[in-house]
Amino acid sequence: MQKPYVYVTRKLPEETLAELKKRAEVNMWPHEEKAVPREVLMAEAKKADALLTMLSDKIDADLLKDASSLKVIANLAVGYDNIDISSAANLGITVCNTPDVLTDSTADLAFSLILAAARRIVESANYVKEGKWNSWGPLLLAGADVHHKTIGIVGMGRIGEAVARRAKGFDMKILYYNRNRKPEAELSLDAEYREFHELLKESDFVVSLAPLTSETKGMFNREAFQSMKESAIFINAGRGASVDENALVEALKRKTIAGAGLDVFVKEPIDPEHPLLTMNQVVALPHIGSASVETRMKMAELACRNISNILDGKDPETPVT
Ligand code: DGY
Repeated sequence: MQKPYVYVTRKLPEETLAELKKRAEVNMWPHEEKAVPREVLMAEAKKADALLTMLSDKIDADLLKDASSLKVIANLAVGYDNIDISSAANLGITVCNTPDVLTDSTADLAFSLILAAARRIVESANYVKEGKWNSWGPLLLAGADVHHKTIGIVGMGRIGEAVARRAKGFDMKILYYNRNRKPEAELSLDAEYREFHELLKESDFVVSLAPLTSETKGMFNREAFQSMKESAIFINAGRGASVDENALVEALKRKTIAGAGLDVFVKEPIDPEHPLLTMNQVVALPHIGSASVETRMKMAELACRNISNILDGKDPETPVT
């Protein structure tokens, strides 16, 4: 009997695919840092039983309409806003993501953005490497404290709670805004719920971990930045499109807020000429929230197990719906 056909849209370590290869024919786009071209993805989707996709692959109705053998799309991310979920559901295609295994790594990265932006880590490291360090100075590259400040977490899912746990270790006051209140987090983390604009007004660090939905798209707009403290630092490790980047640039230029730490952008990769990248008070990273070797291996293995389960007629471990 012919083995099912699985297409992997980016180069993954061979060992993560070993089990899947025992029961399926697996073909992989051979590049790690170059996305699969749309026409290749369209052609592969037409013949695939399963796709293992990246958050940068657009899986829309147009691509799905000809994917007549497709049974499962396993996205290598917790977010799945790159996939047209309702089209997939209408076609009976299961969509899976990789939650849990990346929670702590992504929370570490979000917290490192807080520390890096507040304590001017990147600016200071560049200062030394560029040979600018002439003498110790009392206020040389002095930043803002993180400990004992107020953190406002927007999007209190698993990663939000993991960031709150880290904030607790820094003796921070924890505020959160979420679609639904989280009574357990309020109890176990001393987290206090606030309405969105109340959270913005009170927080020293506003941390967005919100998934991209019609409700969160553009929620950090001019009005939101104007509600924040002048000393506030805005962190985004959720999705770029929850931010109006022109409003963020304006807020930073006008010193409506003090700084930003960004792992995600409206357009990824961000244009190297983008005004956000010219500002010392901005720490910008290339969407590396979950990018530790250990976590990426676990994500790839989980995505492969989800595919195998579906191909074997079993329930996947982490379906999206
Ligand atoms: C994801 O997996 O969706 C996040 O962006 C982690 O970086």
